[in-house]
Amino acid sequence: MRTKIIIGNWKMNKTRQEAHDTVAAFTELVKNVDGVEFGFCPPFVYLAELASSSSISIGFGAQDVFWAGSGAFTGFTSVAMLQDIGAKYAIIGHSERRGRFGKLEVPASTVGSFAETDETVNLKLKACLAGGIVPIVCCGETLAEREAGNTDSVIATQIAGALDGIVEADMGPLVIAYEPVWAIGTGKVCDSAEANRVCAMIRGCLPASIQATTRIQYGGSVNPGNARELFSMPDIDGGLVGGASLKAEDFAQVVLAAV
Ligand code: PGA
Repeated sequence: MRTKIIIGNWKMNKTRQEAHDTVAAFTELVKNVDGVEFGFCPPFVYLAELASSSSISIGFGAQDVFWAGSGAFTGFTSVAMLQDIGAKYAIIGHSERRGRFGKLEVPASTVGSFAETDETVNLKLKACLAGGIVPIVCCGETLAEREAGNTDSVIATQIAGALDGIVEADMGPLVIAYEPVWAIGTGKVCDSAEANRVCAMIRGCLPASIQATTRIQYGGSVNPGNARELFSMPDIDGGLVGGASLKAEDFAQVVLAAV
């Protein structure tokens, strides 16, 4: 039995005060909730203080991490630093960090600045697994890839690239998020049966020994209205939630939909 995992990805939102207020209000709403794992990935600048302030079992995590242990890497954050401040998770390879946007809101000429690749995802995943941070590895197809009938091959390639060279015995903490790029921040949720089909396909890409235990989330316009149906599907083990994690009430309802 896989414990469902619901993670709120705040992306680049909230003031410091809003961050604390949201966590406080959310804490009140879920303090008696049992049997589901949940947490937030706030912007880095708030992560340390939120991770040390929580009174109940809310896990906090980073929206990205770097693979090197330390050194001359301006602007980056290591797995050891995440450990040091009590962070639990790191999102790796989010489509927005791969320069793949559901709604393009950046100048096209700047997309290269976001270019996470399967190779950087692999390095970050290895660093997290070695350093005790739970990795949430994102994969997903663009609308053009879906319309060309390439959904499964795109995702299988992303998963193979992420896991390259990692031995099965080390993959235990791995969480995967299936996030169709066209569903992220667009309000267009993927049909639950299709999301389940892709999550099952992803499961089939994993080594046999971890297929039954690895949690695979769905992400992309999850909200209080569609969460229960998505989370009732047999191969969907929770959600990676953007917009609906910004309001405590909405995110609490999404968490409750997984109980
Ligand atoms: P969304 O974002 O819920 O706002 O679509 C999900 C994500 O990007 O993780």
